[in-house]
Amino acid sequence: MKHAFLLLGGLEEIAIAEIKYLFSLPEIIDGRIAVASGDKALFPRLALTKEVTELLQICEHSELERIFFEIPVPEQPLCVRVKKIERTNTSSQELERKLGEILWKRGAKISVSSPRTVVRVYLADKAYVGILRHITDTKQFEERHPKRRPFFKPGVMLPRISRALVNIALKDGFFFDPMCGTGGFLIEAGLMGLKYAGMDAFSEIISGCAKNLRCYGLPPCVLRGDARQMPIKSTSVNGISTDFPYLQSSKSFGNLNELYSMATQEFARVLVSGGRAVVVSNREIMDIVEESLEVVDIFRCRIHGSLTRRIYVCSKK
Ligand SMILES: C[S@@+](CC[C@H](N)C(=O)[O-])C[C@H]1O[C@@H](n2cnc3c(N)ncnc32)[C@H](O)[C@@H]1O
Repeated sequence: MKHAFLLLGGLEEIAIAEIKYLFSLPEIIDGRIAVASGDKALFPRLALTKEVTELLQICEHSELERIFFEIPVPEQPLCVRVKKIERTNTSSQELERKLGEILWKRGAKISVSSPRTVVRVYLADKAYVGILRHITDTKQFEERHPKRRPFFKPGVMLPRISRALVNIALKDGFFFDPMCGTGGFLIEAGLMGLKYAGMDAFSEIISGCAKNLRCYGLPPCVLRGDARQMPIKSTSVNGISTDFPYLQSSKSFGNLNELYSMATQEFARVLVSGGRAVVVSNREIMDIVEESLEVVDIFRCRIHGSLTRRIYVCSKK
C-alpha cells in the first residue's frame, strides 16, 4: 500500500533515510512529501516524519475537484484538511470547503470538530489525496529531552534524531551501542521494543546510563567495556548506532584515531551479515570507517559553529 510521508522540515535527508531503511526507498520525493510503501505497524516508530497518509490519488492541483467526485466516500464522519507544502495562491480553507462539499453531496457525513476520518490533501508540486493514518506524537520527544533525565552530559543528541538513527540501523533484532554515554540511543531502542544493550568505558557513565534507562521503565542492559575490543560475540548484532567521543565534551578511552579504527573493525566483526552501523563523529572519518565497513550514506548536520555531526550509515562488507 502506498503512503505519503510528510517529512519534518530541516532534516529531510535523514527523514528519507529513516523511511528507506524502515520501509522502502521512496519512489517520489516532492518537497517534504515522500511516497513509499509503508507498514502501519511501524508508523509509531517514525521520528522524522510528521504524519502518514494512505494514498488514494496523486494528481495535478487543477484536477482535485474531479478526483473528489471519484474517490471512495468514507462512511465515518469526515473532514477534508489541506496542507500547502509549496507556495501557492490557493486558500487552504476555501479548498477544504469546496472539496468537503463535493463529498457531502456524494453522501458523506461531515464533522469538522470531531471527524473520525481525515481526508488529507498535500499541495506540493503535485496534489496528494488520501486518508490520514498516523500523526507522530512530537510531545514525547520534548518530554524525553536529555536535560530531563536523571543523568545528563552536555552535547548529547536529541531523542528525535537518536530515534531516527536507531531506525536507520535496524528494523528488528538486537541493537547495540558500544559507546552509549547517557543512553540516548538505548532509550529510543528500548521504547520501540527492540532488544538492546549498551557499553561504555567508564563506570560512572554506566551507572548514570542505567539510571536513565530505569527512569523510562527500561532494563539497565549496560556493561563496562572498551569499544576497541568488545566483549561481544562475532555476528551477533543486527544494528549499531553510536556516537564517537567529541573531545570537547566527552572523554575518550584511548587515542581517538586508534579508537575510530579499532572500534569500526569491531563493529564489522560483531554485525550479522547485512547488518548496519550508524557511526556519528564530529570529524571527517570516512577513510578510517571505509577500511572496515562499506559507507552507504553520509549526512552532515551543523549543530553550531564548532560542531558539525557526520553521520555515516555503513553496512558490513
Ligand atoms: C559522545 S559520547 C556518547 C553520547 C551518547 N550517544 C549519549 O546519548 O549520551 C561518547 C561516549 O564514548 C565513551 N567512550 C570513550 N572512549 C570509549 C571506549 N574506548 N570504549 C567505550 N566507550 C568509550 C565516553 O565515555 C562517552 O560516554
